[in-house]
Amino acid sequence: MKYNCCQGGLLTLFLSWSSILPNLSTLANASPISGDCHHNHFDGPENPSFENGLNGWTVLQGDGFGNNSVSTSTTYWDGPFRKVGNAFLWGFGQAGDAGTGSLRSSSFSASSVMSFLIGGGWDPISHYIALIRESDSKMLFKQTGSNDEAMVRIIWDTSAYAGHKVHLLVYDNSTAGFGHINIDDVRTGCDALGDKGLTFHVLGQANQPDQTASRLSAPQLYAADPIRDQYHYTPYQGWINDPAGLIQWHGQHQLFSQFNPVAPVWGPMHWSHANSPDAVHWHNLPIALYPPYPNNTADTSGRFTGSAYTNSNTGDIQLIFTESTDVDFHPGDTPEEVFSANSKNGVDFGYSPKNPLIAAPPPGSESGFRDPKVYWDPTDSTWKMVVGSGDANSGKVQLYVSKSPKGAEQLIWDYVGVLFEGDGSTGTMWECPNFFPIGNKWVLFYGGANLGWYHVGSYNGSTFVSEKSGLADAGPDSYAMQWYVDDGGRNLAITWMGNWPTPKWPSRVNGWAGVQSITRELYLRQDGGLGSRPIKELASLASGRATVLSNKAVHGSIKVGSTTMARLQLTVNLAASNAPAFNVSLFGSSAESAVLMYNFANKTLTLDTTNAGYGQAGTWTAQIATPASNELTLDIFIDRSSMELFAGDGTVMTAKITPRYQESQDIKIIANGGKAVFDTIQLIPLSSSWT
Ligand SMILES: *[C@@H]1O[C@H](CO)[C@@H](O)[C@H](O)[C@H]1NC(C)=O
Ligand SMILES: *[C@@H]1O[C@H](CO)[C@@H](O)[C@H](O)[C@H]1NC(C)=O
Ligand SMILES: *[C@@H]1O[C@H](CO)[C@@H](O)[C@H](O)[C@H]1NC(C)=O
Ligand SMILES: *[C@@H]1O[C@H](CO)[C@@H](O)[C@H](O)[C@H]1NC(C)=O
Ligand SMILES: *[C@@H]1O[C@H](CO)[C@@H](O)[C@H](O)[C@H]1NC(C)=O
Ligand SMILES: *[C@@H]1O[C@H](CO)[C@@H](O)[C@H](O)[C@H]1NC(C)=O
Repeated sequence: MKYNCCQGGLLTLFLSWSSILPNLSTLANASPISGDCHHNHFDGPENPSFENGLNGWTVLQGDGFGNNSVSTSTTYWDGPFRKVGNAFLWGFGQAGDAGTGSLRSSSFSASSVMSFLIGGGWDPISHYIALIRESDSKMLFKQTGSNDEAMVRIIWDTSAYAGHKVHLLVYDNSTAGFGHINIDDVRTGCDALGDKGLTFHVLGQANQPDQTASRLSAPQLYAADPIRDQYHYTPYQGWINDPAGLIQWHGQHQLFSQFNPVAPVWGPMHWSHANSPDAVHWHNLPIALYPPYPNNTADTSGRFTGSAYTNSNTGDIQLIFTESTDVDFHPGDTPEEVFSANSKNGVDFGYSPKNPLIAAPPPGSESGFRDPKVYWDPTDSTWKMVVGSGDANSGKVQLYVSKSPKGAEQLIWDYVGVLFEGDGSTGTMWECPNFFPIGNKWVLFYGGANLGWYHVGSYNGSTFVSEKSGLADAGPDSYAMQWYVDDGGRNLAITWMGNWPTPKWPSRVNGWAGVQSITRELYLRQDGGLGSRPIKELASLASGRATVLSNKAVHGSIKVGSTTMARLQLTVNLAASNAPAFNVSLFGSSAESAVLMYNFANKTLTLDTTNAGYGQAGTWTAQIATPASNELTLDIFIDRSSMELFAGDGTVMTAKITPRYQESQDIKIIANGGKAVFDTIQLIPLSSSWT
């Protein structure tokens, strides 16, 4: 369901739709605005797409806007601007981020609906696009950017103001990084809702129900956002990054996340908290940890990533994490220390009186010292802890041991030494190290140089020797993965479906950014590398009738189904296929799609998102090992704006994909010449995990 909420009246609007629209539950793919667009259609502002320079637009004040604001560039350092036509307004063009000022459009009469493209910085106070009513200068709507140059379409339901004289205001009062706003292609009336026979997703802060005022349940709030994942963990508003503190405690799986509740951007780190009986259906719990100086949002001191264990004396859930101090606000303080917190009831956490447990980093940690991860070491029956660090030359993992007597209230840590050190090729600061045994081997994985890396090797209680290594995830959106052992002894992991190198979180226009992956099981692949597969409990998300095709030879193209919430399972008969390659097209419509291409000759799987809507455009390739059975299996989880692919050999590829159009739901298989033969093609509809 999609709800429309505008300034000051979600509940009223919500009720009024229910009265005009007979069955809200059938509206899953219908825009609540579209019924209106033919009424009250007036022309928008002059020169709505900046094709005639700044004509029709007036600089009101400041040095931030001028003729050089109009750009005809197609791309910037990190991809396409996604402009429409030849020109657009690039807020950086006139005076960089340092310029400030405001620009207004010509006057026009508000139609029932309007839309426009916005890019540039996220900051609802300092830079935004607003609709101003001229009779009383009232700001009717406003929208800020997404900390990305690339533009996203925002739709405003202006029907309450139809016929009123209005103008657009482009406002920039920020000189910070991304201190500018981009705008293009202002539309009014039905054109505002779509093109090429397709309908835009209704995005923007005016369309997000307020969590408290709307009185909608969590499943309704989540369902109302057309680009929000439905069976992945996200907080309703704000930013998350690293998962942390993963543990099964008192039977319940615990998931904490690095969290900024007030904005969809990184900031003073809290720990959000959710639990689950099955590691699939999460329930939100109160924030577990708050930053130390919550009254000053500019002070980025926070509670960084860490891990959890069960206190063998008290039975408490015990968190151990990085206490990060913003030294700009606290000069002379230690920037990173190890702290502990605990809880008896699993909800309310208190800090240990013994903090800091580690007051200073060990030698050789010049690049940083963070993300303590506790593990039980069977080689000498002790609690141990790895912490990420590095120096000018390479990332490394520092090792600690606890010699606290059994029954101690708080584990106290002694430094052992460097567990493992890189050669510099994977970065000079390793984050989020995890270290654990599988079979007779040990696995180390960590984040370095903006990617997740693993090593499989041998360990003698103090040093680790790598025997095999590689990327932990072959896709664009995985970082800061965390491991834990569940009560059944499985090695489970959850990864942040995000990454640092590119600033692409188009969902920021809806007030949120960051998603945690589905729960994966880690295992050793046949070739000795680290493999991932989805946990079996995910089968409980299946709902509705599956499409099942057997012994299907695909020549040309077949449509398997049309949805953005499903699990697509393919078994490819490699011996019987003679096409050079086949494609699996997801989130597809006549305008866009994300493509997975399997090349039979070189056994590569390539994800291509260059025409997959908003978000990161690029290609990512993984080498897939051929199974002895000559059958390749692909298990693909699709969830509104994400894709996680698990190949039978243990390869995993994670990507955020945000389609622009409501119709972009087609799932097709295309043989690129010849035939691609599938023993089975199975499309299983999945339901929300919040219901
Ligand atoms: C843009 O250029 C035109 C033509 O040179 C000039 O008349 C106008 O004043 C300029 N506008 C601004 C905002 O500088
Ligand atoms: C810009 O922001 C400053 C505070 O940073 C404020 O004092 C000033 O009034 C703002 N200017 C405008 C034009 O709103
Ligand atoms: C934050 O401000 C509130 C209200 O002024 C105050 O009660 C609280 O002690 C402050 N917290 C900190 C950590 O300074
Ligand atoms: C582990 O191996 C390292 C490197 O060979 C060695 O220095 C160390 O003494 C060994 N530790 C134990 C407990 O065997
Ligand atoms: C895969 O094989 C094709 C020819 O079939 C070749 O053009 C292409 O470069 C190969 N790609 C990789 C990644 O090896
Ligand atoms: C398959 O996908 C690749 C990568 O996006 C693309 O280059 C190729 O044209 C596609 N082939 C077909 C037949 O659609």
